[in-house]
Amino acid sequence: MSKPFSQACENNKQPILSVLHDAFASVDYVLEIGSGTGQHAVHFAANLPHLIWQPSDQREYLDGIAAWCDDARLENLRRPLELDVCATWPVTRTPAVFSANTVHIMQWPMVEAFFEGLGAVLTEEGVFCLYGPFNFQGRYTSDSNAQFDRFLRERDPGSGIRDIEAIVELAAGAGLVLRADHTMPANNRLLKFVRG
Ligand SMILES: C[S@@+](CC[C@H](N)C(=O)[O-])C[C@H]1O[C@@H](n2cnc3c(N)ncnc32)[C@H](O)[C@@H]1O
Repeated sequence: MSKPFSQACENNKQPILSVLHDAFASVDYVLEIGSGTGQHAVHFAANLPHLIWQPSDQREYLDGIAAWCDDARLENLRRPLELDVCATWPVTRTPAVFSANTVHIMQWPMVEAFFEGLGAVLTEEGVFCLYGPFNFQGRYTSDSNAQFDRFLRERDPGSGIRDIEAIVELAAGAGLVLRADHTMPANNRLLKFVRG
């Protein structure tokens, strides 16, 4: 199978890695949710050799992610697992979770299921890093994010850019506290939550 490709992943993988270096400095395993093409998984596994990177996604994405993993031949990169946040998760315990560009694609009940799952699998002091576009109190951080949100909601009225406040409240219900909010290029953010 030819490998799927996302230019956005190429553009954002290095800025994200610069945050993950610190955020995941003392974890030995990361479960990625919604790995998409698999480009992030390869880049982060290659550059964070002290940990095991476990990609996952819905079934239709698995062959593409596996193609990237097979080509990369990295000892610390696992083959992708099927994981739909609304179903039973195949991983029951992890010290860290990473996810990029997922909560604005998922409908809100899926986002709720996502955080419920995080509360169940993250160990005490476990770390969750969430990358993507976010609003503050319903306000867009850029015109391009406002346009992107309109595009998302026309395609699926249940999707859309989330308010940081709503995410933080959901996280609190799962026992997660926001520890850092990093400003990232292209009007994105990287939110770091810690359990406990
Ligand atoms: C915009 S893509 C982002 C992919 C990749 N993380 C990136 O940044 O390029 C959204 C991802 O969310 C995943 N996703 C959507 N609904 C999901 C669900 N219910 N459970 C798990 N993943 C889901 C999709 O399969 C897709 O991989």
